[in-house]
This record gives sequence, structure tokens and C-alpha cells, in this order.
Amino acid sequence: MATLNIAIDGPAGAGKSTIAKAVAAKLGFIYIDTGAMYRAVGLAAVRRGIDSTDQEAVASILDEVEITLKHTEDGQQIFLNGENVSAEIRLPEISVAASNVAVIPAVRLKLVELQRQLAQKDHVIMDGRDIGTYVLPDAQLKIFLTANPQARAQRRFLELQEKGVKTTFEEVFADMSYRDKNDSGRAFAPLKAAEDSVMVDSTAMSLEKTIQTITEMAQNALQSEDMK
Ligand code: DC
Repeated sequence: MATLNIAIDGPAGAGKSTIAKAVAAKLGFIYIDTGAMYRAVGLAAVRRGIDSTDQEAVASILDEVEITLKHTEDGQQIFLNGENVSAEIRLPEISVAASNVAVIPAVRLKLVELQRQLAQKDHVIMDGRDIGTYVLPDAQLKIFLTANPQARAQRRFLELQEKGVKTTFEEVFADMSYRDKNDSGRAFAPLKAAEDSVMVDSTAMSLEKTIQTITEMAQNALQSEDMK
């Protein structure tokens, strides 16, 4: 059986993971958060005291980095060399390290291979930056989810506050602007809307409305695949 693949790309804080998780639960798809994989590599570098912008040093530890995923009712759990690091990878300093290691082609090639294998096995909703353009160019539905920078930083700030992470709005806004520039400006598989993607701007949309809109698009994609 062919698998149905849905790609959701967009900048940090647009709501990709919350929405992808909810839509996956409604449709019985597996949700794959590819950002968590880059975060795990960023964490591996930080833990070794490696500067995440030092491309050679980061590439040299890749053979020692084993990433595995487990899918539970609460969504995806991510393991770095067997250790569950799902909470630790959300720290602000790891966001920046993730964006830095994501520039490195060797890092991307390793993670993209894993992502493509997962998409072959199951119906998946995968979120990231390059899913529609590079990882799954044949995905049956591609969404580019965005929102203005102010709204994205505000959402991310509230999320971090709820988790008890000490930070300020200004810090979150600055980290996000750095990542936006880094993720869109890199040479290999940058953040970009695929030509055949549907643009969804969530700035003025409630979470419920965004989930409903994308669920409907996914249901239509499922139906048209079934009819083939
Ligand atoms: O989605 P996120 O904020 O958890 O992603 C963390 C970083 O990983 C992000 O700044 C850029 C990088 N990333 C990427 O380059 N490609 C992806 N498919 C997913 C994330």
C-alpha cells in the first residue's frame, strides 16, 4: 500500500507541531517532528562542549549520534543514544544550536535518510523546514504555515513560560529572528515554500480554526488518493 504523506513547513512558532500533532491524532497518522532531530544533534554537540557553528567538529561526532523515535499517545518521544531527551531539547540554547547544526550538509543527509524511511512505512504528517521541497517532494499535500514574527515569538514565549523555562519575550524574539535568518539563508535545503504548497497564515486564526482548516485539507487529500 502506498503511504499518504503530508508535509507542513514554515518558520519557528507558526504552530506547526501543535497543529500537525492534532491533525495526526484526528486522522490516525503518525506525526513526525523533524525539528526534534536537529535539536537532538544540537544537544549532542552542546553536551560535548562543541561550538555548534563549527561544521567540521559537529560532522566528526555524527557517527556517535544515534537518534531513535517512539510514538506514544502524547506524540513523539526522541532518544539520543538511548536516552529520552524530549524535554531537554526544548531549551532556548538548544533551539539556536539546532539551527546552527542544521546548516551542515552531513547533518541534514543523515537525518533526511531517517525521515524518508519513516515516511515510507506509514501515513505520516511530517513538519519541518524542507519537507515539501527536499525530504518528501512527492508528498500528496504540502502546507506552508506561517504567521507574523510578533505573533510567533509571543506564542513561543507563552509555551516556554508554561514549561517553566526562564526567559523574556525580547530574548525569544531575538532567538527566533536569528533562526529565521539562518534557516532561510542556508545553502542546502533552506526554509522555503514548495511551489505546490498551500499557504496558511495563522496570524489572525485561532488554533482550533487552523486545526480544522488543515484537517479538512488532509481529509480531501485522503479521499482523492482513495479514488485513484
Ligand atoms: O521546528 P524546530 O523549531 O523544532 O526546529 C529546530 C531547528 O531545526 C530549526 O531552527 C531549523 C532546523 N530544522 C531544519 O533545518 N529542517 C527541518 N526539517 C526541521 C528543523
